Amino acid sequence: MRIIEVESYEKLSALAADIIGAQVLIKPDCVLGLATGSSPLGTYSNLVKRYEAGLLDFSRVRTVNLDEYCGLKGDDPQSYRYFMDTNLFNKVNVKKENTNLPDGSAGDMEAESERYEALVEALGWPDLQLLGIGQNGHIGFNEPEDTFPTKVHTVKLTESTIKANSRLFDKPEDVPTHAITMGIGAIMKAKRVLLIAGADKAEIVERAFRGPVTPQVPASILQLHRDATVIFSRA
Ligand code: F6R
Repeated sequence: MRIIEVESYEKLSALAADIIGAQVLIKPDCVLGLATGSSPLGTYSNLVKRYEAGLLDFSRVRTVNLDEYCGLKGDDPQSYRYFMDTNLFNKVNVKKENTNLPDGSAGDMEAESERYEALVEALGWPDLQLLGIGQNGHIGFNEPEDTFPTKVHTVKLTESTIKANSRLFDKPEDVPTHAITMGIGAIMKAKRVLLIAGADKAEIVERAFRGPVTPQVPASILQLHRDATVIFSRA
């Protein structure tokens, strides 16, 4: 795996957008695996700028997001669908019907997990999967456990993840406690993986990518991926 250190979040975002943009240019109908959260905001705004400058065309791109909160409908401003629509999809020419997230408001979450797994497989797995990393080493919402969960599944979020997510909610009791997430299987089957991490993740980046591979630090599995790049910003 490659670990690229850059000196600022701006450089991280520009480089991540270079890599994603190159993927779209090389394969205009590529499948992009996407993430939400604070880390990719700069990457998405760079991609939007490049689209607006006429440098990128998303008209044939398909997207699959990693995860969604359970219990939230797509039009809820706290949902990941809403995040993706407002930060990327509504600002570029991707076709809405080609954008996919798990449905956190589905009545039967087991059936929804099976549907989403089958959908990602039918798309041929992501050509490029963008990831952030949680302070506890989670990728998607694959939280530290005794084994690596392979398929799409629902998870009870750990206290540390709920606490980290609470910054984006008005009241702590509004923070969802469960999420549906792609498993480690789909992430490992992505042809390329790009993980972005800011300086606040220095400690977990060290543990995940310079320590042992263990399901207690889920991101550590990326050490075994055939084409994984980590961009880490020192500031
Ligand atoms: C979000 C996701 C999560 C985040 C991680 C880091 O779709 O899958 O794993 O990437 O929690 O979040 P930020 O970037 O907000 O620190």
